[in-house]
Amino acid sequence: MDKVRFAVIGCGSIAEIAHFPSLAQEEAAQLVACCDLNAETAQKAAGKWGAAAWYSDYRQMLDERRDLDAAIIATPNNVHRNQAVAAARAGLHVVVEKPLAATNYEAWDIVRVCREEGVKLMVGCDRRFWTHNQWAKQLIDEGVIGDVLMTRASLHEHWHLYQNNVAHTAFRLDAAVSGGAALTDTGAHAIDLLTWLTGSRVKRTVGIAKRLAMPAGYTLNDDTVWLLLEYENGSYGCVSCNRFSPVVSQATELYGTEGTIFTATDATNPFQSSPMAVYSNRDYSFEELPQILKDYRWPQHFWVEDHIDAHVPKRWMPIMPPRRPGNYERMTAHFVSCILNDTQPLVSGEDGARAVEVMCAVIKSMETDGWVELPLPPGERIAPPHYQPLPYED
Ligand SMILES: NC(=O)c1ccc[n+]([C@@H]2O[C@H](COP(=O)([O-])OP(=O)(O)OC[C@H]3O[C@@H](n4cnc5c(N)ncnc54)[C@H](O)[C@@H]3O)[C@@H](O)[C@H]2O)c1
Repeated sequence: MDKVRFAVIGCGSIAEIAHFPSLAQEEAAQLVACCDLNAETAQKAAGKWGAAAWYSDYRQMLDERRDLDAAIIATPNNVHRNQAVAAARAGLHVVVEKPLAATNYEAWDIVRVCREEGVKLMVGCDRRFWTHNQWAKQLIDEGVIGDVLMTRASLHEHWHLYQNNVAHTAFRLDAAVSGGAALTDTGAHAIDLLTWLTGSRVKRTVGIAKRLAMPAGYTLNDDTVWLLLEYENGSYGCVSCNRFSPVVSQATELYGTEGTIFTATDATNPFQSSPMAVYSNRDYSFEELPQILKDYRWPQHFWVEDHIDAHVPKRWMPIMPPRRPGNYERMTAHFVSCILNDTQPLVSGEDGARAVEVMCAVIKSMETDGWVELPLPPGERIAPPHYQPLPYED
């Protein structure tokens, strides 16, 4: 195989903004078929992005086509399980947009079937593919900030920003379909990112996910979430997300025994004026400085700063990574390479299911008023309030 042949199921906003352009950029990928419940959307996408065929029923597509290697599932959360399972049973490698599913049992079911079929499963947690987050991970692994003991990820962003300007449908507002918002939509990113950067599994969690700002007539979903995470390696994390702040603020803070790293990912503000900042207490000469810091750190003195100081001054270092290639381009290229080289995706199905389990544990913690241990006991099924799971189609 020299090209991976893709179908995209769900040709809405994230497919249009991210998946189709990334597939078009990737030389080893070919878009073969577009599928959307809305036939006009599917047909339009196929015409615009050069797919040979379009469908409005994913089962028909999977039955008919023998020329597919992989599927990207970018549909509302409640259909992820049935579509991912059907694609895997048809022998396709699968990317499922985050959250992997709305319930712990749907999420683990996707993982189980993909394992049984021997296909690759990746979850669309694009935050891991932002350059500054990848650099943060690398710098932590190189010991630049010592042992990371405390972390925090936040993502505050009004419903309207995406819903009114970008989204193609209103599924996010419908709790029966989406299963949540601050926790399962924006929170899904923050939980995954923090857990990956921490490099450990969540041992237990406690939190709240509530609707504080928006009227019930707009949505029954939560718009505010606070949660604490205790990791198996003994460190602690905190996630805060909301869906009512009219302006985006987003930060990931990593506190180690020898330093601190902040990343802003995809929004900066005057208080947080560069996409990434690093402080290290270690004594570096310019030659010893990790390459990322050497290349992308901006001087405070002036351009010959590195030649003036025998040792790199201990100060906050603002880091300015390039914006291109972008997160989704890297994510698609990575998935294609996993298929061609038979390697494991960076965001595994298990990672996605464990993140959903954290979300379900937060819901449970509001009922029990306390910490919830992970993994959840075998057979325990937790669904978000108001969520209406679809019957399994297989
Ligand atoms: N990684 C990210 O940052 C990110 C950003 C946006 C969306 N997402 C995720 O992507 C998924 C889609 O979100 P969106 O914003 O693109 O939604 P959207 O409303 O813009 O588009 C959804 C599309 O799916 C189609 N659809 C609905 N049910 C279908 C079905 N049964 N079969 C085929 N098509 C169906 C709709 O007609 C619509 O075209 C969600 O899971 C969401 O959480 C992730």
